[in-house]
Amino acid sequence: MFHLSGIPCIPKKSMKKTFFTVLFAAAAFAVSLPVTSFAEHEHTPLGEKMEAMAHALKDLKPLLGDATKKDAALASIAKAKESATAARDLEPAKTKDIPEADRAKFIEGYKKSIDGVIATLDKLAVAVKNDKTGEEAAIYAQLGDEKRRGHASYMKKGQ
Ligand code: HEM
Repeated sequence: MFHLSGIPCIPKKSMKKTFFTVLFAAAAFAVSLPVTSFAEHEHTPLGEKMEAMAHALKDLKPLLGDATKKDAALASIAKAKESATAARDLEPAKTKDIPEADRAKFIEGYKKSIDGVIATLDKLAVAVKNDKTGEEAAIYAQLGDEKRRGHASYMKKGQ
């Protein structure tokens, strides 16, 4: 369809449709903005390692106390340990808020705390390997305590 001026003319009906499509897309985008930033907040590199460790430990939980699931349990422990080892080489975001004179001590404490987690994961691996199914839940709970203590000391408030 052409207008008298020779410029192609968009039929009125199709223009209306285009208008509503654009309006709908804009509205959907606007609605998605706060949801995206709330649900998928940005992770620091350390936060990513922590998330990976949390996933591995979540997968691990239902495998404990069952000697038939030993291989899968050991694989999850190995994954958690890999993330904890990588986390050890990173610095908490809170480090920047610590007075420069105290920073080395803060990082030393952080690494020591992560070393504790790694040691507990090793202890758990030994229990799983040796079918000490009755000991596994208590060692797993120890990881929860270490997490709480680590976060209380090394995580920024509101992080
Ligand atoms: C043992 C089990 C642990 C689990 C499952 C765990 C899990 C997590 C998770 C899910 C986050 C949030 C990540 C994000 O949303 O970006 C996080 C953050 C963090 N965790 Fe852990 N955590 C553990 C232990 C520890 C320990 C022992 C420490 C300290 C020695 C620690 C220090 C931190 C810090 C500092 C952050 C904030 C990230 C940053 O500062 O960049 N976590 N952790």
